[in-house]
Amino acid sequence: MPKRTVVTMPGDGIGKIVLNEALRLLDALGFEADYVHADIGWEFWVKEGNPLPQRTLDLLEKHRLGLFGAITSKPKDQAALELAPELQGKGYVYYSPIVGLRQHFNLDICIRPCRTFKGNPLNFIRKTKDGYEEPEIDVVIFRQNTEGLYSGVEWTNPPPEVRKALETHPKMKAFKDVPSEDFAISCRIFTRRACRRIVEEAFKYAKRYDYRSVTICEKPNVIRETSGMLREEARKVHENYPDIELWETNIDAQMMWLTKNPEDYGIIVSGNMFGDIVSDGFAGLVGGLGFACSANIGKDCAIFEPTHGSAPKYADLKPSIVNPMAMFLSTALMLDYLGENDKANKIRSAIAEVIKEGKVRSYDMLKLKGGPDVLKQGAASTDQITDAVIEKLKVV
Ligand code: NAI
Ligand code: MG
Repeated sequence: MPKRTVVTMPGDGIGKIVLNEALRLLDALGFEADYVHADIGWEFWVKEGNPLPQRTLDLLEKHRLGLFGAITSKPKDQAALELAPELQGKGYVYYSPIVGLRQHFNLDICIRPCRTFKGNPLNFIRKTKDGYEEPEIDVVIFRQNTEGLYSGVEWTNPPPEVRKALETHPKMKAFKDVPSEDFAISCRIFTRRACRRIVEEAFKYAKRYDYRSVTICEKPNVIRETSGMLREEARKVHENYPDIELWETNIDAQMMWLTKNPEDYGIIVSGNMFGDIVSDGFAGLVGGLGFACSANIGKDCAIFEPTHGSAPKYADLKPSIVNPMAMFLSTALMLDYLGENDKANKIRSAIAEVIKEGKVRSYDMLKLKGGPDVLKQGAASTDQITDAVIEKLKVV
């Protein structure tokens, strides 16, 4: 196996902390790779007017593999105010670099596993007739990552030709009196090729990892064209997988039933926005942001990241108290992608052991309010958690 090069993008705030812990874990696992650092995030927006510098894109163009921490992102008006004085008023516009990366490298498949680790105090519990039960959840969300409502095709006060084109649709009659400056439009764009690819990848994954069902979670009864296209492609692809069940749910009902029978679901496929929503919903049942991992996968490039952000209020605490598990689980997804499944499973098993044993717990697992005092209250620091996981690598 040739030695791989991983482009490491710590980003801002706690992104820097958790990425560093992931590298310690990879070293302890004996994963052989070269690492090259790449700049991304707020600092580069402020200094250079670009949170995703070209040199970072060049490194990813070359190595096609990235491990990402988290970035700080702000609305564009506020971002403009924080630019270095010499860059102000020069037409720089802030865009989220992570959305930029997904689009630039066409990382169209986002995979977000949400799995229960036994013994995690943050696990969802459900009331029963005479007590409580803790369902064991193993759901993997496949979120279309580049299209839909996040494709960025949107206007306030659309140009006249856009308005005119829209008015060819009979439903636009309802809006004919609205002045254009009072019109905001965000396009929900689905392409057949992207729908096809995400359902194909979802079924392949279901087969490979032995999941019983693939659920298309959309809203085709109302958003008939876009949700309808995803459903149509799913039905076609399903014909090649007779042993896997195809289920269909609506996003609103899915969220309502989330706590009723989450253990029944296997793979869930959604467009970009509903995928974002449903994956946060499921993540909340298995530990929340400290555990929510993700993979962004294109045809020949992939980037792995925890779904949490830069958590600025904890960024400067020394020692750090944030939970590195989401980053570790994202690192395991990178190893899966590289075909290093044994090493990936070792990470997951070591995490499972640490959680089951219950001696070393982050502040969020102890349900404490974050802050410097949590260590006195029994929470482990970030590096102690990493040490505990590394220790367990020896026995799993
Ligand atoms: P956040 O995810 O950074 O933090 C929200 C809260 O979740 C934190 O205050 C903390 O209580 C908890 N939390 C997050 N990660 C944790 C961890 N590893 N361990 C323990 N607790 C953790 O979201 P927030 O505060 O809304 O955004 C902060 C910044 O991050 C913003 O600038 C936002 O735009 C950005 N962001 C970046 C993302 C990315 O890089 N992919 C994703 C989400 C937000
Ligand atoms: Mg989200």
